[in-house]
Amino acid sequence: MPLEANKKVTDLYAVMGNPIHHSKSPAIHTQFAEQAKMDLVYSAMLVPIDGFDSAVKDFFKGNGKGLNITVPFKEEAYKLADSLSARAKTAQAVNTLKLLEDGTILGDNTDGAGLVRDLTVNNQVELSGKRILVIGAGGAVRGVLQPILNENPEAVIVANRTYSKAEVLASEFSKLGNISACEFDALEGEFDVIINGTSASLNGELPPIPESCVGSATSVYDMMYSKELTAFLIWAQSLDAFKLIDGLGMLVEQAAVSFDLWRGVHPDSVSVLDNLKSQLK
Ligand code: ATR
Repeated sequence: MPLEANKKVTDLYAVMGNPIHHSKSPAIHTQFAEQAKMDLVYSAMLVPIDGFDSAVKDFFKGNGKGLNITVPFKEEAYKLADSLSARAKTAQAVNTLKLLEDGTILGDNTDGAGLVRDLTVNNQVELSGKRILVIGAGGAVRGVLQPILNENPEAVIVANRTYSKAEVLASEFSKLGNISACEFDALEGEFDVIINGTSASLNGELPPIPESCVGSATSVYDMMYSKELTAFLIWAQSLDAFKLIDGLGMLVEQAAVSFDLWRGVHPDSVSVLDNLKSQLK
């Protein structure tokens, strides 16, 4: 037998996006692989804006087994996948691709599962029976609504700067639970949980939510994260919110669900999250 036949080939994984240099996914997945003692390589790939399809196809023609997909390619990945998980279908966006045994590509979306796990398991924030305000109506929010509604909240209110987009989302997801749209200035009463899914924090901006939405029992989650508290969490802190949580946990948890999909092992995400937190400081 030629030597070549015995050679073990390392499975390749990557995150594709543009830009990609700040991605923490390689560090996260490399720690998951070390925990599981699995021989794999996970890298970050900068893909030209008009080159997504060919980059994915080339990757899977080689030793590529799975991909994470980030901005701005999640909708293209949704279109490219040969088959889709139920949650990817509802989200109309894909953040995880997996090469199946038959050579076809499965698309999944693990963002919402990651958010819900970070809220309910890592931070003990109950969603079931609660009144939840979700701010934003872009791709990030679309990706998390189904898993949130699956937790059986009492009500989900979607508020967005462009109100018509919130209305469209609420009507689309209304078959999955009690969800409605509301203008920012018409929001009334304290919420149990507020989730900021806008990109406002990227620019240090705040969605104009009435202060009366936040009470001393309100848990406030920003899907963004940064070294310091985000502008939204600083605002919630000034109103004495109960819990302030940023999106670093969601990042690690969505990665853990992707890793499980590819490798059949759910990693110990908490230790990886602790490592990331201490690196950020
Ligand atoms: P993503 O994929 O991150 O969701 P997106 O689809 O561009 O990105 O959506 C960005 C979201 O953040 C939208 O809900 C946007 O509101 P509009 O629909 O009105 O554009 C919201 N957003 C961005 N900057 C904001 C700001 N300064 N204040 C309030 N909402 C903001």
